[in-house]
Amino acid sequence: MNAPEAKRVTLRFAMTKPRAFISRRIPRSALEIIASACDYTMWDDLMPAPRDHFLRAAAEADGVLVMPTERIDAEFLAAAPRVRVVANMGVGYDNIDVPALTARGVLVTNTPDVLTEATADLAWALLMAAARRVVEGHKAIEAGAWGAWHPFYMLGQDVFGATIGIVGAGRIGAAIARRARAFNMRILYHNRRRAPQLEAALLAEYRAFDDLLRESDYVVAATPLTAETRGLFDARAFALMKDTAVFVNISRGAVVKEEDLVEALKRGRPWAAASDVFAVEPTPRDNPLLSLPNFVGTPHIGSATLRTRTDMATLAARNLVNALTGQAPLTPVNPEVWPIKLANGLR
Ligand code: DGY
Repeated sequence: MNAPEAKRVTLRFAMTKPRAFISRRIPRSALEIIASACDYTMWDDLMPAPRDHFLRAAAEADGVLVMPTERIDAEFLAAAPRVRVVANMGVGYDNIDVPALTARGVLVTNTPDVLTEATADLAWALLMAAARRVVEGHKAIEAGAWGAWHPFYMLGQDVFGATIGIVGAGRIGAAIARRARAFNMRILYHNRRRAPQLEAALLAEYRAFDDLLRESDYVVAATPLTAETRGLFDARAFALMKDTAVFVNISRGAVVKEEDLVEALKRGRPWAAASDVFAVEPTPRDNPLLSLPNFVGTPHIGSATLRTRTDMATLAARNLVNALTGQAPLTPVNPEVWPIKLANGLR
């Protein structure tokens, strides 16, 4: 390890406990959970470790706590033969090759529930910002371009009483729908499976994907990234939307064909869009979306509140420790590999 790397590593080894590697600085309360049961190393920085450092550190570990930005793939498996649990600090786990890890008996955990409300809040912040031109208005003031009040100045779209179409009716989709009730909205949803609870509790109506796009004033992507949803929102999908529609993506950048969204927004169908996620993150400054007045972006901050991030880290830490000490993990992604077998005979 070279000198700058060494400075960033927090190390606690006593050789008797399971070994954990934490790939980024995490809140103290979560670290304490790991410290109480494991010897650990942590990449004690807010920025990611270089990949080679990450792989070397994982090679020594029985379990790792990782961020959604870490790729957990064949290269990782080859480099980290001891690892029996990967605890992801995120609900989405498209960064992890789950079938490959399952085949190797490696448990994967994620952090559902704890980030649902914060992420739904941000979806609504984006929806409102795009519908009512909040960022465009702010920029106009900043640029000294706030002209006279007139009946047609900065007109947006009505939210109250409009129709929202939510694609992906999981926990976050349902939380977005609950908020829509307060805006007296008609709620449509599309999902792989029907969601009877959503229909009963919120009077949500199921729609085929194309019908949802045609009927909705607001289309919100809240689906996980899978082979099925990759590129789902493309030129064809945008062409089906209303020319007054607002499209919001809080899922993953890859569910949208960004170049198609750029063209669609230039043509004005949908009328506006907002996204917390991008095909490449961080997205480059010259991403053409950013130069469009009818686009609002945020830098993948759906779960970014202190309480939520602390809860996510704590849940990931509990999953890691549970798995490494023989207790059932709280939120496993591939429960079929539980109980795990630790190579070094700790259990
Ligand atoms: C998640 O948990 O998947 C989020 O996108 C990370 O903020």
